[in-house]
Amino acid sequence: MKKIKKAVIPAAGWGTRFLPVTKSTPKEMLPIVDTPTIQYIVEEAVRSGIEDICIITSPYKKAIEDHFDRTKELEQLLSATGKEALAEEVRAIGEMANVVAIRQKEALGLGHAVYCAKPFVGDEPFAVLLGDDVVYHGDKPCIGQLMDVYADKGVSVLGVQTVARENISKYGCVAGRQVGDRLYTVEGLVEKPKPEEAPSNVAVLGRYIITPEIFRHLENTKPGAGGEIQLTDGLKTLAEEQGMYAYDFEGRRYDVGDRLGFLEATVEYALRREELRDDFMQYLKGIVK
Ligand code: UTP
Repeated sequence: MKKIKKAVIPAAGWGTRFLPVTKSTPKEMLPIVDTPTIQYIVEEAVRSGIEDICIITSPYKKAIEDHFDRTKELEQLLSATGKEALAEEVRAIGEMANVVAIRQKEALGLGHAVYCAKPFVGDEPFAVLLGDDVVYHGDKPCIGQLMDVYADKGVSVLGVQTVARENISKYGCVAGRQVGDRLYTVEGLVEKPKPEEAPSNVAVLGRYIITPEIFRHLENTKPGAGGEIQLTDGLKTLAEEQGMYAYDFEGRRYDVGDRLGFLEATVEYALRREELRDDFMQYLKGIVK
């Protein structure tokens, strides 16, 4: 079985839920405290052992590619002014992985965005981490947990968690059987079902391990829900062909493409920062009264 070395991060959507800022700033570059969302995601992949990362961007999102480049002038300035730790931090961002970008020329849907990564992926299984989903994790990063399941089962794996039934219509929904600790077989997939029609409350949450045969299925996938080429539709036929698992990963997931999710992430990440924690907590207690 091939080892997972590559990850694709789709980040070419318009971010309409977060207008007006997303008119000119990619939502993936919005900071959670002081770090762009997409950096947390790249770090998760790197900590899981991924070496090569392809970000799917759009003509309006150059800032994402720039962030993972070296900025030697800034590094030199920081060093020259005695800010060595900061200089090192800035340098490390430019060197954390082999990051490349592929442009999705039109936002035709998540399935189409993943299809754009075909020349980068080739004939290997690969990880997909959505550019606006952040998962705060303990010892093992979310995508690393799915990589372990792949190593055991050898077929595609979806990262899932259960959600309140009234919220299932925001997600891809898994029909399946629990076959182990946190593990389900995928026997059906529905994109954004109505709560009363959903086969379960198990939601697909922005993390996937996918075998390369997905590209054949995406090639033949017609626009589905919302007129977009849906990854869910391609995964559904892939599951019928090869089998597929869903893993209820450990970790707190934030949808930072949603305003409320973004605010939750901001507050909780700030409270996890030692240098901010006490002052911020005091401030929050004060205003909550
Ligand atoms: P979303 O549906 O959350 O992103 O897609 P969006 O379309 O940008 O958001 P809204 O609904 O308009 O606010 C999930 C991920 O897939 C990427 C997005 O950038 C996001 O990371 N995506 C979506 C693409 O790369 N291309 C697309 O055509 C659509």
